[in-house]
Amino acid sequence: MNEKNIKQAMQNPQNRGEMAAADAVGTAGSPGCGDMLKVWLKFREDQKGKKTIDRATFQSFGCETAIAVASVAMELLRGKTVEEAKNLSDKELSAPLGPLPPMKIHCASLVEEALRDALKSSAESASDSHGTKVASSDNLRDRMKAGTKSKGKVVLLKPAPELS
Ligand code: FES
Repeated sequence: MNEKNIKQAMQNPQNRGEMAAADAVGTAGSPGCGDMLKVWLKFREDQKGKKTIDRATFQSFGCETAIAVASVAMELLRGKTVEEAKNLSDKELSAPLGPLPPMKIHCASLVEEALRDALKSSAESASDSHGTKVASSDNLRDRMKAGTKSKGKVVLLKPAPELS
């Protein structure tokens, strides 16, 4: 892992914060470390009529690595089609930071899972004939306080493997 890249991403995290009028939202949590991350997406149609990500933001109660990965990943997502975004791995999302050590790979997985949850919620709302919108007041801190009782779901990751 490139410590300098992580520090830079941490000092000036991009695309941080709740997005008003988002088209999709996703949340993931890691039972291994207790960290959580939420992602908001705004879509637009490109010139070919394909749904692409216009903006992506995140909110995190997690470690520095998760925040750094989310910061670079949100930038990476801009302009990607939904299909392209679905195919991005945790490794690709964290690539601008350099390779992560094994004990930090789950931090990038947290970002990937939150993104997948958001893309899934976008697919579900697209088929919702009532045009359900994301509740912008449903922030991560409130959800963490309320456990999992609030609407939406939390995607739990497998705990990171122990290092010997
Ligand atoms: Fe939990 Fe990084 S240590 S996400």
